[in-house]
Amino acid sequence: MIYNIAIDGPAGAGKSTIAKNIARELQFIYVDTGAMYRAIALHLLRKGADGGDSEAVASACRSAEVSITYRGGEQIVLLNGEDVTSCLRTEEVSRMASVGAANPAVREKLLSLQRNLAAAQSVVMDGRDIGTTVLPGADVKIYLTASSEARAHRRYLELKEKGESCDPEEIRREIEERDLRDMNREISPLRQAEDAVLVDSSNMTIEEVTAELLRIFREKTGTGGSV
Ligand code: DC
Repeated sequence: MIYNIAIDGPAGAGKSTIAKNIARELQFIYVDTGAMYRAIALHLLRKGADGGDSEAVASACRSAEVSITYRGGEQIVLLNGEDVTSCLRTEEVSRMASVGAANPAVREKLLSLQRNLAAAQSVVMDGRDIGTTVLPGADVKIYLTASSEARAHRRYLELKEKGESCDPEEIRREIEERDLRDMNREISPLRQAEDAVLVDSSNMTIEEVTAELLRIFREKTGTGGSV
């Protein structure tokens, strides 16, 4: 039996942390679709493509082959065969990923890769349009959100822990700008699927959100213990 769990929501809501926990618990594969958009963004940046020029983005993305593999349970992203996993988390890549993700050629390129992964095995897949577009038939759909203050604060703590200098106000502005772009683009905008369960993690711990999502999964699929 193959199960698909779709988790969508804005930047910094905790999707990847929670999705990883659930995947580990249920022994499913975790698929981080944002990392795929980030790999394309890295390619666009390396090519010097102007994110605002949709022809240039479409053309540059034709020479980007993205694939994923797993090492020690961690998702590795390959861009034209090169492991770029460690290059994907900069603010520059975050911004370009959000800009590039509004381009139909970029989305089309990644859609079949995402669907094929979910068809082959049980997955917990996170992103912006998984429940609405990529896996409309997913067994469980979650819309995980949190206030922009809570999300910016988490990102601030994350960067501080890494020893990177950061301005909390700047982080919040970046997050809100990205939300606005992801929610208002024409193609596959971020929105809650009609049959998705809304979970607001603003005042919840990681453990609480993980437990709540596992409970929802078991309730929806009628699976008692581990799958
Ligand atoms: O989840 P993330 O922050 O790594 O995603 C980076 C960007 O990629 C995000 O701002 C929007 C885009 N994205 C998307 O449009 N659709 C997805 N399924 C996943 C990410």
